[in-house]
Amino acid sequence: MEKINDYLYEYKGQIFAVGMTTAEHIDSLQNFEIRDSDVFLVTYPKSGTIWAQNIISLIFESDDTDETKYENNLEKMPWLEFPEGHSDYSSRPSPRLFASHLKPALMPPGLKEKKAKIVYVARNPKDNVVSYFHFCHAWVGLETPKSFEDFLQQYLAGNVGGSCWFDHIQEWHTHRDEYNILFLTYEDMVMDLRSAVVKIAQFLGRDLSEAVLSRIIEKATFKNMKKDSKANYEFLPEDVLQKGTFLRKGIIGDWKNSFTVAQNEIFDKVYQKRMKDFPYKFIWTMT
Ligand code: A3P
Repeated sequence: MEKINDYLYEYKGQIFAVGMTTAEHIDSLQNFEIRDSDVFLVTYPKSGTIWAQNIISLIFESDDTDETKYENNLEKMPWLEFPEGHSDYSSRPSPRLFASHLKPALMPPGLKEKKAKIVYVARNPKDNVVSYFHFCHAWVGLETPKSFEDFLQQYLAGNVGGSCWFDHIQEWHTHRDEYNILFLTYEDMVMDLRSAVVKIAQFLGRDLSEAVLSRIIEKATFKNMKKDSKANYEFLPEDVLQKGTFLRKGIIGDWKNSFTVAQNEIFDKVYQKRMKDFPYKFIWTMT
């Protein structure tokens, strides 16, 4: 583990927040036994992870007779790379659900057999960096940015937990044919939540009735999820995360409230350079 600063370290090309995992645990994932029924949600941080986590959890709850088995979504869908409190993954019943911010190289190689499924959610990086900036003020283990300008520089340099947004999305996209993977965007989910839920459910092979589908959509709206103690992460202690901060605004285009014209120009130049061959076009503004 190579220290970057008091809050971050790097291991095998991925940046982690101090105290969240160990080199041994990350290495152990290379021998992690994948089951055909496993489902992985992979994201770059602040891309709508806990939203998709809630949707996938609800999709699998629909025929789960014991809804109270897991106290919250973190219990139901633990983070692959952050083992605290959840590390006995092998004794979990199928289908196992996992969330992860890892890049492909650190994921369990058994995923390449293409039987287990990966849902990858990406978010436009301007809203992503703004969300991340605010999160750094709320998550006690992360350095409070000196300014948005300073954080933007760190983000563009890839000196943040989860590493560089551009590398993350490019690496997953480049390796997509090696996995059984569904790509979708945060913006798809905001613009048409119903279609996004249907798409995820179909990919996961779940045939949902209209009633179940409507219930999931209702529970996954920003307003309702913010109140849902199983899903809003207010179950985390306050010395880890300030209450009420995970679901902050939940919109497309909030970046306009933080970016200056000059910052936007610089960002666009980096984006053009890094993403010129990328086939998806992100949505930057709510229409
Ligand atoms: P904002 O900070 O822009 O509001 P992650 O879960 O990957 O950390 O991402 C957090 C972002 O997803 C936050 O963005 C949060 O508000 C947004 N989010 C979470 N649940 C949501 C929901 N139900 N609808 C819309 N956005 C949601």
